[in-house]
Amino acid sequence: MTFPTNFVWGAATAAFQIEGSTTVDGRTDSIWDTFCRVPGAVVNGDTGEPAVDHYRRMREDVRLMADLGLPAYRFSVAWPRVRPDAGPVNSAGLDFYERLVDTLLEHDITPWVTLYHWDLPQTLEDQGGWANRETAYRFAEYAESVLVRLGDRVSNWTTLNEPYCSAFLGYGNGVHAPGRTDPRATVAAVHHLLLAHGLGLAAIRAHAPNASAGVTVNLYPVRPADPDSPEDVEVARRVDGLQNRIFLDPLLRGAYPEDVLADLEPFGLADHIAASDLQTISAPLDLLGVNYYTVHNVTARPEPTDRQNTDRPSEWLGVETIGFRGLNRPRTAMDWEVHPDGLTEVLLRLNREYPKIPLYITENGAAYHDSVVDGGIHDPDRVAFLDGHLRAAHAALSAGVDLRGYFCWSLLDNFEWAEGYAKRFGIVHVDYETQVRTPKLSARWYSQVVRDNGLPAAENL
Ligand code: FCB
Repeated sequence: MTFPTNFVWGAATAAFQIEGSTTVDGRTDSIWDTFCRVPGAVVNGDTGEPAVDHYRRMREDVRLMADLGLPAYRFSVAWPRVRPDAGPVNSAGLDFYERLVDTLLEHDITPWVTLYHWDLPQTLEDQGGWANRETAYRFAEYAESVLVRLGDRVSNWTTLNEPYCSAFLGYGNGVHAPGRTDPRATVAAVHHLLLAHGLGLAAIRAHAPNASAGVTVNLYPVRPADPDSPEDVEVARRVDGLQNRIFLDPLLRGAYPEDVLADLEPFGLADHIAASDLQTISAPLDLLGVNYYTVHNVTARPEPTDRQNTDRPSEWLGVETIGFRGLNRPRTAMDWEVHPDGLTEVLLRLNREYPKIPLYITENGAAYHDSVVDGGIHDPDRVAFLDGHLRAAHAALSAGVDLRGYFCWSLLDNFEWAEGYAKRFGIVHVDYETQVRTPKLSARWYSQVVRDNGLPAAENL
């Protein structure tokens, strides 16, 4: 099973999840630094220190990627390093990313830069965060500072990673920083994140006119648990609206979906939309990044075995009762069911329902409880997960989808947000006591896939 020539293979990380060194070279707090100090917010009270100490071990990590033969690396730039407290440009912060980019290029690894992977300067949160329209303009200034320094060397950019999580988990159910639970702030955040994307894209166009640019969204197929139940179908429509279409439609069609606008009318979505915002938000993209992990199989009438969030406000604004029903598939350590077919489904849907633009899977991967066998990390579950999803991606290609690349999440075990260090997504194991990196079986396997630009026949697994 061979992938197209020039298919981009890589691995992904994000600044706060790997860097550590949160107080050096002028960096100040992001919302995640603050959130980690809230008792109970993050499992085990884990924080961004020292993470996997990547800020100091950057060269070693790039060498590791080179050893694995990875042609591309997706990482994010930390806003609070580049503009601490959202103030003036901090040259020392940019120096780090310049060194990283240059080191990657020396090793023939193509940098893919994400400008925002959730680490908003705390100062801006103190002024309302993403619920405040001003934050979008501050983001554009920050984006410009990064572009001025790196625009001549980096030719692949995405503005935001998963605005869904920033808005709905950050301001809706409070599972992520800044931990707010305010529906009105949530819908304001949705719009201001989209606006920030549009303004950030303009900064990319201005300073790197030849670069490829886009945004990364996390998409789920949303299925009614009982397709014959009008209530389940209605919940599925709403969840699809909040998870997928509220971002895809403004970005790719220049308008919020009518049904979502109506659903969110009580929370004031329309109040935030100024003239020409949607034009800014829907400026043409060169690529769409898709992050894919699992499916949502939803019901309006949860049974005791269905997953339900009853202990905190729901991120599913306007949905009265919702449960997530398992489909008896294997589960990862995150308790997410494994559904490779869902990846084919989201790619086919994009192809069918939206204007066609090049697609890249910017994240896909799984956490498992890896076991050490003879000093090696034996993670056959992760190999099977990646294999299944690559076959699913290939099925989409065969059906005519313009899929151009795949980045596995993640290069290294790292800080998994509210789950702290307890959940390991890396293809490379990190010993948190010693910071020793050990490629897992999955890293060796992936390295071979990349070398072959394809997958071994299924029976050889
Ligand atoms: C995504 C995030 C990424 C990582 C994976 C598991 O939602 O973008 O940082 O945490 O999930």
